[in-house]
Amino acid sequence: MIATKWLLGITGGIAAYKAPELVRLLKKQGADVRVVLSQGAKAFVTPMTLQAVSGHPVYSELLDPDFEAAMGHIELARWAEGIVIAPLSANRLAALAHGHADDLLTTLCLASTAPIWVVPAMNQQMWHHPATQANITILKDRGAVVIGPGWGEQACGEIGLGRMSEPQDIVNQLFPMYQPMKEQEANLQGLRILISAGPTREAIDPVRYISNRSSGKMGFALAQAAATLGAQVSLISGPVNLASPHGVERIDVMSANEMYNAVMTKAQDADIFISAAAVADFAVEKALSQKIKKAGATGLQLNLVATPDILAKVAALPKPPFCVGFAAETEQPEQYAKKKLQEKHLDLIAVNDVSREDIGFDVNVNELTVLSQHKTFHIPKNTKYQISLKLLQIIRECYDTKNKIKNS
Ligand code: C5P
Repeated sequence: MIATKWLLGITGGIAAYKAPELVRLLKKQGADVRVVLSQGAKAFVTPMTLQAVSGHPVYSELLDPDFEAAMGHIELARWAEGIVIAPLSANRLAALAHGHADDLLTTLCLASTAPIWVVPAMNQQMWHHPATQANITILKDRGAVVIGPGWGEQACGEIGLGRMSEPQDIVNQLFPMYQPMKEQEANLQGLRILISAGPTREAIDPVRYISNRSSGKMGFALAQAAATLGAQVSLISGPVNLASPHGVERIDVMSANEMYNAVMTKAQDADIFISAAAVADFAVEKALSQKIKKAGATGLQLNLVATPDILAKVAALPKPPFCVGFAAETEQPEQYAKKKLQEKHLDLIAVNDVSREDIGFDVNVNELTVLSQHKTFHIPKNTKYQISLKLLQIIRECYDTKNKIKNS
């Protein structure tokens, strides 16, 4: 693990309460973290808490003689190898975008050449306001990486885009981009990797649908890891609440049929297809164009039809990419997975035991058994990002072996 010097800027917003957890997770990655609080942030999280978790004094005043005598603002700006601002409020975003130096954090950003990641968090109306969108575009154009915001219920009671990304998701995005490639990690330069992720939604009527518990986290972690290892990655995602991985082409779809069409269009040009999506096996035969009324009804029958098995169709192409499936099983995981490997003509299958609550659906950790025709690999419990690095290493090895055999 490589220690890096991170400056964490925290600005005023209710999501600031998640910042100590972010510090803890950054430190777990080996990072040295110095915290700068905006004036507004102090209303939501105390300097004492952040000092305790970071192990360093917390800075917040621009004109502070004690701070300037110890590690002045220019020195701190030079020290930082990466700057992450989480949460970033609409106000501080505007100040950053327009180059203000009206507090310590904005001054440090101007004085530093370190790459900047920003994690906006605000009310959804404020996020959608053209002024905020223009400001975020300015930051992006200047090279800042924007993480999130996520969609969901907000502290103000509204629902929409504006939630701060979870600390673990932030760390997953910061570290892969920042760490130099480790020796044991696969080199995926030159490979085109297609990944499907998330659930699909099968419409019943304009307001109702059938779906499943997949969060998309595994597929997104794989996409981020593959891009970091040098691959050209296309990610086809069902409806999820996740920020796009950096450097990845993302195509959003809704239903199994839409995912099928998107995957088939891209599969021709892919070297490797990793099917991490939890595709609905059945769709409503004829979704209704008007909302179904319950008045007087004692029951409802839906006629379901099987959706295309996308992975099996890709594996059956005349020149299929190297195909990797996922099997989410609740009993006898390996036996069922082996059967799928054979029936769908896959090169590898990664098995998830979804009967366990601690791994799999909607959590940040996982544990996998990976089966090929002749080999079994075990990837012990870890974050989905670390699991992805291991899985990609296995994929790379098996992909190379298959090509050697083909060319011999
Ligand atoms: O047969 P089962 O659904 O368990 O197989 C799981 C694997 O097949 C996963 O990799 C999943 O992405 C893929 N799949 C698919 N299209 C479907 C159903 C599953 O690509 N309609």
